[in-house]
Amino acid sequence: MGQPTASSSQNSLTVRDNRTGKTIQIPIEDNSIPATAFKTLSATPEKDERKENETSKGLRVSDKGFLNTAVMRSEITYIDGEAGVLRYRGYPIEELALRSSHLETAYLLIYGSLPSASQLKVWEKEVMHHAVVHADAEQFFRSFRYDAHPMAILTSAFAYLGSYYSEANPSLQGQTLFTKGSPDSLAVMDKQIYRLIGKATTLAAMAYRVRQGRTFVTPPTGLSYTGSFLYQMDYLGQENYKPNPVLEKALDVLFLLHADHELNASATTVLQTGSSLVDPYSAIAAGCASLYGPLHGGANEAVIRMLISIGSPANVPAFIESVKKREKVLSGFGHRVYKTSDPRSFIVRKTADEVFKVTGKDDLLETAMALHEAAMKDEYFIKRSLAPNVDFWSGLIYRAMGFPLDFFPVLFAVPRVVGWLAHWRQMMLQPGGVKIWRPRQIYVGETKRAYVPVEERTPVEEAKKTPSQITHSGITKRTMLATFKGAKL
Ligand SMILES: CC(C)(COP(=O)(O)OP(=O)(O)OC[C@H]1O[C@@H](n2cnc3c(N)ncnc32)[C@H](O)[C@@H]1OP(=O)(O)O)[C@@H](O)C(=O)NCCC(=O)NCCS
Repeated sequence: MGQPTASSSQNSLTVRDNRTGKTIQIPIEDNSIPATAFKTLSATPEKDERKENETSKGLRVSDKGFLNTAVMRSEITYIDGEAGVLRYRGYPIEELALRSSHLETAYLLIYGSLPSASQLKVWEKEVMHHAVVHADAEQFFRSFRYDAHPMAILTSAFAYLGSYYSEANPSLQGQTLFTKGSPDSLAVMDKQIYRLIGKATTLAAMAYRVRQGRTFVTPPTGLSYTGSFLYQMDYLGQENYKPNPVLEKALDVLFLLHADHELNASATTVLQTGSSLVDPYSAIAAGCASLYGPLHGGANEAVIRMLISIGSPANVPAFIESVKKREKVLSGFGHRVYKTSDPRSFIVRKTADEVFKVTGKDDLLETAMALHEAAMKDEYFIKRSLAPNVDFWSGLIYRAMGFPLDFFPVLFAVPRVVGWLAHWRQMMLQPGGVKIWRPRQIYVGETKRAYVPVEERTPVEEAKKTPSQITHSGITKRTMLATFKGAKL
């Protein structure tokens, strides 16, 4: 490519490879450039350069942790992290939280516009109608130990659910099952969406009940999405049982706020997994596993554990000091995208007050408020633009509502099924079809070497480069000391 002219260089990037003198012009579209453009920049490897650098095959783009890599063109959610703006399909989150409901917002996120009254009615009916799971699911849930983490149960349950729907499995039905965009294909896709959103509350409630030692209940009729969820967790045979409307509404607002957050770790995992054209149940199970981590959906649980460990407002200054010394992390603060307060955190804080009116105040609230105040005026946090994210306050509401700590990530995962499905559906229907997500790596390992026979090897003995020594339980020790036929050691 030659030297660019002034006009052709507009809205493009000119890159000169100083190794070869070659200049390329890369078009800028929507303020982004395609990383593949750099592949045309190849060079002759330097003398002694590692072959694994593949210098003659084109320049690679390195971006550990996706700090500046866009992997989708999306119409779903917009975040302005500097200004603290979050919009679903163009609608500000504050307005949706005030005026919409979780299921209406789910329709908006997945299909792109707010439903008419009749569209909403059909949508709600289909989702709620699909809440019931096969009776065999009872055995599946009962196979978990009483102390299993509910996220382990829920993650497994989504994958398990997929085993019932062979008609939704591209491995069995053909790989274009969800990508065709034909009416039949769309109907199959939307049916799985109804099922996954409808059954998410049922699976989560079953995970809850199995740990409480309760029998399971059939999803009720005539209740809202969160009303049904609360009922399925709490109903114990009482006549005309109805969940508290304040808690039902608060949970609905929290669900709406958690429904999507563009390409966070779990949504990206769903897309990465879905890009192999696996069935949506497997993709959602993968997203659920990703969400479980303490840097993502596990943060609301981590916040409460942190507040419990702090104990009282008097201990806040010492805690802040230990965070600054990097001995501790202030859970519920900081965000990859927001460099100001997460807009959802204000709504959650307000919702907390509504909930506390009926449940009574949580005894950790004072500590949380003292911590918030101290961090917001501390230079360490100001300099790094660290402010509360959605998890800082949500855990306090869940605690006040009486949910066990380890159930908090489940309360995040259930509404996030909506966002995962919105992104998955968008990818399946994107122009040009689905490309499998196969990132590159920069290989820095050993270059080619010859196999050494065992008797000639110099053993490597460094930690991290050899398996760790572990302790064995008494039973294993006794077995190791026993003699039996076939025992080698
Ligand atoms: C969310 C999070 C993973 C974002 O990570 P990231 O975008 O990779 O940001 P970084 O880890 O590069 O943080 C930038 C700086 O702020 C510090 N920092 C970030 N979050 C912090 C926190 N919660 N407490 C203390 N310091 C924090 C980092 O140590 C780093 O400091 P340095 O530049 O001096 O090394 C991170 O802020 C975090 O771990 N938060 C706590 C967990 C949490 O609440 N997660 C829920 C997210 S919705």
